Amino acid sequence: MGNTVVVGAQWGDEAKGKIIDCLAHDKDVVVRWGGGSNAGHTVIVGDQEYKLHVVPAGVLNPHTLNVVADGVVIDPAGFTAEIEGLRGRGIACDNLKISGNAHVVLPYHSLLDQLEERRKGGKAIGTTGRGIGPVYQDKAARIGIRMRDFTDRSAFPDLLAHVLSIKNELLTKIYGVEPLDAKKIVADYAPFADKLRPFVDDTAIVVARAARSGKSVLFEGAQGTLLDIDLGTYPYVTSSHPTAGGATVGTGLGPTQIDSIIGVAKSYTTRVGAGAFPTELEDEIGSLIRERGKEYGTTTGRPRRCGWLDGIALNYSALVNGLTSLALMHLDVLSGFPEVKICTSYEFDGKKISDFPSDQGRLSRCKPIFESFPGWQEDVSNAKSWDDLPDNARRFAETVERIAEVPVKILSVGRRRDQTIFRD
Ligand code: IMO
Ligand code: MG
Repeated sequence: MGNTVVVGAQWGDEAKGKIIDCLAHDKDVVVRWGGGSNAGHTVIVGDQEYKLHVVPAGVLNPHTLNVVADGVVIDPAGFTAEIEGLRGRGIACDNLKISGNAHVVLPYHSLLDQLEERRKGGKAIGTTGRGIGPVYQDKAARIGIRMRDFTDRSAFPDLLAHVLSIKNELLTKIYGVEPLDAKKIVADYAPFADKLRPFVDDTAIVVARAARSGKSVLFEGAQGTLLDIDLGTYPYVTSSHPTAGGATVGTGLGPTQIDSIIGVAKSYTTRVGAGAFPTELEDEIGSLIRERGKEYGTTTGRPRRCGWLDGIALNYSALVNGLTSLALMHLDVLSGFPEVKICTSYEFDGKKISDFPSDQGRLSRCKPIFESFPGWQEDVSNAKSWDDLPDNARRFAETVERIAEVPVKILSVGRRRDQTIFRD
């Protein structure tokens, strides 16, 4: 398969972690290109469940090099805790590298994230509160602190003092809260810097050299296409580029090095946080999907908003990512419904449209037009091949590929590795 990008095709939480873990086995390098601890990736191996946020899901394979690349933002406390948690469970994490260019999330970022959400009131984004917006803001404003500087004992205190002089003006004069103390942050964060220093490297070169020498690279997406800061449902988005293009910018590997792009999508749709969601079901069916699919956030525990599969959004996602195939997840969750639905067009100001309007203004005025399909009553969680699936489930998957205009090559019928169907 060469170098493969795995990208979330919806609003995040598509079970990307499971697909990364499944595909990482025959990859030499797994590289995470964007986002931070707003992500929550669950991987099940045997009877063990791992909840990862920034550490790439390939870390469970000791022979795979795992890279946290340039486009990622790292909260040193959370990241250290993640590594130590894994080590406590026998995962050595020796196969891990962090880009010196990755920006560091510091206490003022999460504080400002939460204060800003509060200030927005009814217009809040519903962020994860992990400082993601503010840290990417600093990166763009060129006042961010990167891993290389953070782990440099002589550079960090001065850099922090400079940035904090700006942030404290904001905190005290705009938000009316207490200023933060630079010396205290330096002291509190020194142990994290010590623990993370050995992992820091020029990962763009490491990854590009690996690819050039014929090694295979798996790009681990976080978040989802519809949360992309440019291509997503702005302003209800995250602040990075979860779309496939982000994989090259965020890692330093050129677009010519990518051989395939797999979009991961659930058999239905979920969204956490605010923003338009045309196929949302605020009824018993929505609750049933939530309970059966365990649709509660890995990072924040929030109940996810649930609805039928949005084919218009999925077609858009296939288009803007240049998907070469789809992984259709959680097919087992739809077992037992008498009928299942897919949104195949929207009604927008009295007209029928089939192109996804990615801005909140237009999307919030769209009403879904559904096509109904007979459901399948059989439990599919033991299906091992395409032929094991009930006719109606196969017809559903075929409809998804027709609407998305991309073949469904992987189907997931449960959370475990062995509950995955690969179609060739
Ligand atoms: P994974 O990798 C689902 C959502 C938040 C919020 C918006 C902005 O698990 O798929 P942020 O904290 O990023 O500023 O919040 O983006 N969001 C996610 N939703 N899965 C994620 O990641 C998400 N990361 C961010 O809920 O609506
Ligand atoms: Mg998540």
